[in-house]
Amino acid sequence: MNSSSPIILPPLTIGSVRLQSGFILAPLAGYTDLPFRLLCRENGAALCVSEMVSCHGLVQQQKNTFELLRTVAEERPFAVQLFGSDPELMGQAAALVSALLVDLIDINMGCPVRKVIKKGCGAALMKDPQRAEAIIRAVTARTPLPVTVKIRSGWSGESVNAPGFAAMAEAAGASAITVHARTWAQGFGGLADRKVIKAVKAAVSIPVIGNGDILCYADGMAMRAETGCDGVMAGRGALGNPWLFTPAGMPATLAGRMPVIERYLHLAGQYLPSDKVLFKVKNHAAKFLTGLAGAARLRQALYACENIEAIVTLLLAQQHREDE
Ligand SMILES: Cc1cc2nc3c(=O)[nH]c(=O)nc-3n(C[C@H](O)[C@H](O)[C@H](O)COP(=O)(O)O)c2cc1C
Repeated sequence: MNSSSPIILPPLTIGSVRLQSGFILAPLAGYTDLPFRLLCRENGAALCVSEMVSCHGLVQQQKNTFELLRTVAEERPFAVQLFGSDPELMGQAAALVSALLVDLIDINMGCPVRKVIKKGCGAALMKDPQRAEAIIRAVTARTPLPVTVKIRSGWSGESVNAPGFAAMAEAAGASAITVHARTWAQGFGGLADRKVIKAVKAAVSIPVIGNGDILCYADGMAMRAETGCDGVMAGRGALGNPWLFTPAGMPATLAGRMPVIERYLHLAGQYLPSDKVLFKVKNHAAKFLTGLAGAARLRQALYACENIEAIVTLLLAQQHREDE
C-alpha cells in the first residue's frame, strides 16, 4: 500500500463465511429493507443484516414476516436476524431460515423496545443468561450456518456484563459477537462506551464486531484501533449516507449524491411492494439531503410528491439550480 492509499478494514471471516472487509450495516427495523441493503452493499458494506424477524412470525408462516427475508443473489453474503425468547421456537425458525438464500443467522439480544422486552426478548436476555444460552444452543443445533449474537453492554450501568455474556455465547456455539456498547437503560442516548468492546474482545476468541456511534469511515477505523475489534457495524449513521462505508464519504453536493440517490430510487421501485414504495422512498430520500443548502425546503417538496418520477424531477431541478 502506498502512502496515499486509504487505510481499509481487512477482510473478516465469521465461521465459514468470508467478508471482504469488517464494515457491516446494522439491522435497523423499518429501514434495512432489500433496496437499502443492496445500496449499502454496492457502496462498500461487506455485509448487511435484515430487519429483526420474529421467530413466531416465521414458525406461523406469516406473510409479512417472510417479506423481511426477501433477498437476491447479488446481496450475498446476507445475514438474517431472529428475535424471540423461546429456545424451541428460535431453533425451528433457524431451521426454516437455513433453507433460504441466507449465509448467517444473527440473534437479537439488544433490542430495548418495551413491547419486545416485556416478552423476554431482545435486551431482556442480557438479564437472563441461562435462557440466552439455551437459545444460542437451540439455534446452533438447528442450522449449519454460522450464528452470531448481537448484545448490549448490559442491562444498566450497575450490571455491565457483556464480557462474561460474550464468553457464554462463544461456549454455546456463537461464531461472532456484535456489541452495541450501550446498556438497555441508555436506550440510544449518551455515547457508546468503547471500553466495553475492548473488554469483550479480551474475553473471547471469536470475532468481535463493535457498534455504536459510527458516523463516518474514520469513526469505524478509530473504533477498531481503540478496541482491537475485528469488525465494525454502523446503524443510524448509514441512514441517508451509504457513502459511510468508503473512505471518501458523503459528497458535499446534490450533484455528487445524485447517482446513488437515483440508484436507490430504481432499487426501491424494483423491490418494494407498490403499496409501500412511496412512503419508504420519501423516508430514505429525505435523509439523503442532509447538509445541503435548502434541505428543509427540498424535504417539504419531496414529501408532497405523488410518485417516484416526481421525486426524480424535483431533485434534478434542484441539481440544475446548484449548477447555476
Ligand atoms: C430505527 C432503529 C431500528 C433498529 N432496529 C434494530 C433491529 O431490528 N435489530 C437490532 O439488533 N438492532 C436494531 N437497532 C439498533 C442498531 O442496530 C444499532 O445497534 C444501534 O442503533 C447503535 O448503532 P448506531 O449508533 O450506529 O446507530 C435499531 C436502531 C434504530 C435506531
